[in-house]
Amino acid sequence: MAKRTIVTMGGDGIGKTVLPEALRVLDAAGFKADYVSAEIGWDCWCRQGNALPQKTIELLERHRVGLFGAITSKPREAAEKELAPELRGRGLVYFSPIVGLRQHFNLDICIRPCRSFPGNPLNFVRRSADGSVVEPKVDVVVFRQNTEDLYCGVEWTNPPDQVRKALETHQKMAAFKDVPSRDLAVSCRILSRPATRRIIEAAFQYAAGRGYKSVTVCEKPNVIRETSGMMWSEARETQKRFPGIQLWDTNIDAQMMWLTKNPEDYGVVVSSNMFGDIVSDGFAGLVGGLGFAASANLGETVAVFEPTHGSAPKYAGYPVSIVNPIAAILSGCLLLEHLGESKLAEKIAGAVVRVVKEGKVRTYDMLRRKGSPDVLAQGAASTGQMGDAVIKALKKA
Ligand code: IPM
Ligand code: MG
Repeated sequence: MAKRTIVTMGGDGIGKTVLPEALRVLDAAGFKADYVSAEIGWDCWCRQGNALPQKTIELLERHRVGLFGAITSKPREAAEKELAPELRGRGLVYFSPIVGLRQHFNLDICIRPCRSFPGNPLNFVRRSADGSVVEPKVDVVVFRQNTEDLYCGVEWTNPPDQVRKALETHQKMAAFKDVPSRDLAVSCRILSRPATRRIIEAAFQYAAGRGYKSVTVCEKPNVIRETSGMMWSEARETQKRFPGIQLWDTNIDAQMMWLTKNPEDYGVVVSSNMFGDIVSDGFAGLVGGLGFAASANLGETVAVFEPTHGSAPKYAGYPVSIVNPIAAILSGCLLLEHLGESKLAEKIAGAVVRVVKEGKVRTYDMLRRKGSPDVLAQGAASTGQMGDAVIKALKKA
């Protein structure tokens, strides 16, 4: 296979410190690629009034595979204040560039594996009735529809009259009849059938290909009848073609409770965008938290891989970075799988397994400490030391 070019986008804050660790590990595992670095995030917003520069879009169009760090998002007013003075007052609006990337390239399939690593002190444990403690193995893969739903961006505060009139064709709007438009905020939850089908199909294909026995649709069709209802009805249709896989449904609220009780019961979980965002953080919390949560954003032509954590600005300015790079390293594994380099992906995942199991090198989160510059003196590994440990473990494979 021709040597690949990967577009790297460190982004903001700790995105810039975890991404280099992922690249070092990919390199040490023997993955041959060229890397081209592209700008994205807060600095671009402040300097150019656009967090997702055209140049970055063009690089992704050309090379089709991206590895992303993290970005900072701030509410509208705060974002406006940090713009370069000459850009202020021009009506520029900050939009999350990762959401922008997902929508621009229609990266509609988001895959978030949430698997426990043996020996991780952060793993979910449960006390049994007799007082003994069990640590069930969690092996869940969340499929999140990545472009639509509440993230579609169709929303207003003070909706224009046309919109208000259109809404009033629905009888339930009667409840708001006395509220002036300036006191109304409306965010639309829009799902399309083709995208709904694609995420459900992707979830079933994955379950079938990897031996999972169930696909759980995690929605709220008892209340949000139309959109969650479409997820559910499409799942029922699709399941007919996968008779070996059970179709379960849970409401998002109940799912958040069940996952703290019996997470080992779940396999593949599929949700629309907002509920997928929620449920994937929920499951991630059972397997080590965001320091272990990797994701793939897949479209028909472009794919972007990213740790699901944010940019954690409070840890960004440390002289020695303390954050856990494992989520970024595992995002590199997802990238390798996407490129058909499954052997290399397994090699890296195996090295992470060994480091976690051995337990000698642990970042502060794995020691259950609060992040502070002192943690290194208290025995926590730095970001770079964790990267080193994974690289060393690769060599032992
Ligand atoms: C995620 C994040 C993003 C999202 C934010 C940073 C916009 O929470 O990837 O899960 O909401 O999708
Ligand atoms: Mg999230």
